[in-house]
Amino acid sequence: MSEFKRYLITSALPYANGPIHIGHLAGVYIPSDIYTRYLRLKGKDVISVCGSDEHGVPITLKARQEGVSPQDIVDKFHKINKNAFEKFGISFDIYSRTTSPVHHQTASDFFRKLYDDGKFIEKTTEQYYDEEAQQFLADRYITGTCPHCGNESAYGDQCEKCGTSLSATELIHPKSTISGSKPVRKETKHWYLPLNEYEPFLKKWILEDHKEWKTNVYGQCKSWLDTGLQARAVSRDLNWGVPVPVDGADGKVLYVWFDAPIGYISATKELTENWETYWKDKETKMVHFIGKDNIVFHCIIFPSMLKAEGSYILPDNVPANEFLNLEGDKISTSRNWAVWLHEYLEDFEGKEDVLRYVLCANAPETKDNDFTWKDFQNRNNNELVAVLGNFVNRAIVLTNKYFDGKVPEREIINNYDKETLAEIPKIKTKVEYSLENYRFREALKEAMTLARLGNKYLADTEPWKIFKTDIERVKTILNISLQITANLSILLEPFLPFSTKKLSGFIRYERADWEMAGNDNLLKPGHQIDKANHLFQKIEDKEVEKQIQKLLDTKKENENNNKAVNPAKENITFDDFSKLDIRTGTILEAEKVPKTKKLIKLLIDTGIDKRTVVSGIAEYFKPEEIIGHQVSILVNLEPRKLRGIESQGMILMAEDTDGKLVFVSPDESVQNGSEVK
Ligand code: 2FM
Ligand code: ZN
Repeated sequence: MSEFKRYLITSALPYANGPIHIGHLAGVYIPSDIYTRYLRLKGKDVISVCGSDEHGVPITLKARQEGVSPQDIVDKFHKINKNAFEKFGISFDIYSRTTSPVHHQTASDFFRKLYDDGKFIEKTTEQYYDEEAQQFLADRYITGTCPHCGNESAYGDQCEKCGTSLSATELIHPKSTISGSKPVRKETKHWYLPLNEYEPFLKKWILEDHKEWKTNVYGQCKSWLDTGLQARAVSRDLNWGVPVPVDGADGKVLYVWFDAPIGYISATKELTENWETYWKDKETKMVHFIGKDNIVFHCIIFPSMLKAEGSYILPDNVPANEFLNLEGDKISTSRNWAVWLHEYLEDFEGKEDVLRYVLCANAPETKDNDFTWKDFQNRNNNELVAVLGNFVNRAIVLTNKYFDGKVPEREIINNYDKETLAEIPKIKTKVEYSLENYRFREALKEAMTLARLGNKYLADTEPWKIFKTDIERVKTILNISLQITANLSILLEPFLPFSTKKLSGFIRYERADWEMAGNDNLLKPGHQIDKANHLFQKIEDKEVEKQIQKLLDTKKENENNNKAVNPAKENITFDDFSKLDIRTGTILEAEKVPKTKKLIKLLIDTGIDKRTVVSGIAEYFKPEEIIGHQVSILVNLEPRKLRGIESQGMILMAEDTDGKLVFVSPDESVQNGSEVK
């Protein structure tokens, strides 16, 4: 199929500042694991490397927010994620981390080689500096007013309210989030990789030589290349990361996107002494599995770094996926809108394959897709239980029942049997073709057609009805059903590793080898099989309802948190304030203003006089309930007419973000006419 001698599979290193969710799994880790398992089954020399991405500003920010060190943060999430991947059957050969000494050395040496070879440009620019904290400020460490929408807590790289991407110098009233002080501009030196110089190489390598890449990947690369590339800074002023290994670079580290992909190299080094063969021999096929937000880094920047270094191979493919949404809404860590892997593993113990199945069957391969708990339940109940589980269970149970678990002979076969058997190698070829082309949904669908075929075969031939009258026929039917079962245990292994392992146990066929699939005589007559257990269990409504409720609770919580109070108005002088004459008063009379929804006419004893005030509070109060209430009233507001009634002042109300009103009343009863200051 291909001329490569070995395979190097990389999966995007997830940031160690949060747990893994279904979006990560569907986008990156499930496809990479399916591909790796497939290659292993084919007996290929393959390694799959991954690890935690442990540098970058967000990690330092999270540490600051939580009052712990960045190391504490990455230690915590590295452990959680490594564990969760393992339990979920993501079979990395190594799951390393970018804080490891090997990685620091590797990334440092890589930079140094490019530096010594004169591949960087040094540039001095002005950046914000916090004089109190004595450090340069990364964009995320600066907040200020968004010049577009007035949001007062926009970040130095983006306003999260209006979504505009910003540069820190555009912010009005910039403020350091470290000390709260106003940052000053100060000169700083950084190293840049002149990507523009790599344009001709990239254009040929991607646009001409890799026309087979997925449309979404190819398209994004083309658009970057058509726009033209610019030099990119590969260092940052920060105290968390791989120190820049040159003199005069104190307080500077490698940009996280410079060191992270080198993490693939370091992980390989940690895994095997033979790492250079994987990275430097042209007969290695390297494939990067990533999400769509990582395309530019893996197709443009990292390849330019590798090219600049000179001794490394380039990826053969970068099959990036689009995004997965959850119940119609974008997955978001900060809004807790996600299904977290470690929580799934607790809530659905033993059902790892169900999630693997659903996320592959519905993978966002060509467009964004939606995960819903209903679809999860339906696919489990209607496909895994009703088709796959049902078929293999019947084949195994009937063989045990009629033939003491010994595979029967098939001596006479009719046309229907022949047609059924002929489908097996055809399906295998299709699954293989789809896998080779990174079309994992299609591959899974094809493999499941074999289960459907088996199910239909048994339903059509009904061996349970003819056992007493035609035992020879039943032998043939069950032999064929068991051959299909054995094939399923191979073809589905990359997708459903836990269930196929069980299945192989049931039929005592544990020599899974891809090349054996397609063969219609895997289980020889007389071969003793074991008893079956249910491969999959029905998922009840209440189980998914619980998950849906969890999400509804999150939504509610978010809505409450999101009700941002209005920002403070501009400062006024004390003189301005003292012009307001606010007194306490008591409501003596209250009646609704006819033909209005909101207005109540009040008679207030202000201590100075008794006066009429018209107030827009009728939606919140019944007139009879507020008589006798003590309130605060602005008494020197110019009178104005509302619905023909002169209103002589204004009652002070507190209004929450829902528009609900309550009186601003003295804490204890005081004399009417007391001044509010
Ligand atoms: O987007 C991310 O989650 C990054 N941590 C991916 C890094 S991939 C590679 F370069 F390490
Ligand atoms: Zn804005």
